[in-house]
Amino acid sequence: MALERTLALIKPDAVSRSLEGEILSRIHKAGFRIVALKTMRLTKSEAEGFYAVHKARPFFKDLTDFMSSGKIFALILEAEGAITKWREVMGATDPAKAAPGTIRRELGKSIQNNCTHGSDAPETAALEISYFFAAHELI
Ligand code: RTP
Ligand code: MG
Repeated sequence: MALERTLALIKPDAVSRSLEGEILSRIHKAGFRIVALKTMRLTKSEAEGFYAVHKARPFFKDLTDFMSSGKIFALILEAEGAITKWREVMGATDPAKAAPGTIRRELGKSIQNNCTHGSDAPETAALEISYFFAAHELI
């Protein structure tokens, strides 16, 4: 398996409940290297740009209101097969359907307030990393 990088976000619902430490601990235990980390609050239009792929979905307005409602953490995670591996650590989108032991199952509150984001393919990982980080921050 190839060494990969993926973009992870700790979403506003998790930060507002002070779960960032718990989630960072799970990231370490799963064996990821943290390449970069920053904290910020997205504007509504930045959230719309990030989730543009979901523009036509009925949940787009709620999702972008939510993602711009408070502070987030953005991280680049590196590991063998990092994209799939991080999605496994997060669990399924809906916490009620996520496997036991996953972040979303144990910490998520709803299909929207599900604590974390992860890129879903190499192309989207590259695009999403460049949305949050400049080349000189990738070390
Ligand atoms: P993400 O992109 O955040 O890692 O999540 P995902 O791939 O598991 O799910 P995706 O289909 O890409 O949806 C993006 C985010 O939109 C919210 N969502 N709400 N109300 C709903 O039915 C609904 N469906 C999705 C979630 O916050 C989801 O993570
Ligand atoms: Mg997605």
